[in-house]
Amino acid sequence: MLSIEPAGEILGATVRGADLAQPLSAADFGRILLALGQHGVLRFPDQTLDIGDVKRFSELFGEIQGNPIRAVDGAQAYPEVGILSNVKENGAYIGSPDAGQDWHTDMSYRETIGFVNVLYGIRIPRRHGVPLGGTEFANTQAAYEALPQEIKARLEGMTVTHNFEKFWEHMRRDKASGRPAMTDEQRKRRPPVVHPVFLTHPITGRKVLYCNEGYAVRINELPEAESDAMLDYLFRHQLDMRFRYKHDWNENDLLIWDHLGTIHRAIADYGPDEIRLMRRCQVMATKVFDRAFLVPALEAAGV
Ligand code: SIN
Repeated sequence: MLSIEPAGEILGATVRGADLAQPLSAADFGRILLALGQHGVLRFPDQTLDIGDVKRFSELFGEIQGNPIRAVDGAQAYPEVGILSNVKENGAYIGSPDAGQDWHTDMSYRETIGFVNVLYGIRIPRRHGVPLGGTEFANTQAAYEALPQEIKARLEGMTVTHNFEKFWEHMRRDKASGRPAMTDEQRKRRPPVVHPVFLTHPITGRKVLYCNEGYAVRINELPEAESDAMLDYLFRHQLDMRFRYKHDWNENDLLIWDHLGTIHRAIADYGPDEIRLMRRCQVMATKVFDRAFLVPALEAAGV
């Protein structure tokens, strides 16, 4: 029997009673989808999942963004399932060692934005028994609601340009990332895109501040100086501590989060010999805005 236990914080719930290595009933999937919209971050503890299970579960939410990361240990058959890790083999990282190590929203830089991240914790760094390498979130539905009325009115109907290269260069410049500069070919594959500054969350019907510091570069309808000042304000506002929630990992946690209702960052507080190993699927919003998907899914949950 599925149970959903809210964390009692601004985000987060623990889901028990679901074995994600097995197919989910329509009712259980509907309850998980609803809980994802309501709580933003869902933890499924004590899951024993192979790479195919992670992929199958992720695909319930939408299409998985292809993964350019080099594959290991049988992952070749599953190019959509990425590896986040500081493990090295033969002098090279087996996956992405510094993915997401500052505030951002995955895939806001794509025409089809991201909906869900699925991370499966295989090895979690610990120091003196305390888990490191947590993932921190901020609630963008609450952040929208707390905006002053005049800001909501000023920005209503405006749009923001998101650029993949902004975060990439930030990691190289400010975080000593070893990633190479983007090539012209990569730039062509990831051109800047435009999205509304406020979205309506398809599950909750609440408005969302969709403007993350990782990728947002310009509010298109404002003069440049006003856009810069407004972006600074919005970035600071949504990271106010009252909107924040932190997940401390355990091995075999499967964590999913909603990219519409949250922004997030990976906390880089562990050293090169403190091993972190995760599998990740980045699921795009190919289904959730489609009522032919959403309505039956929520009805199956009794909504
Ligand atoms: C991500 O930003 O997608 C990764 C988050 C994490 O590794 O905790």
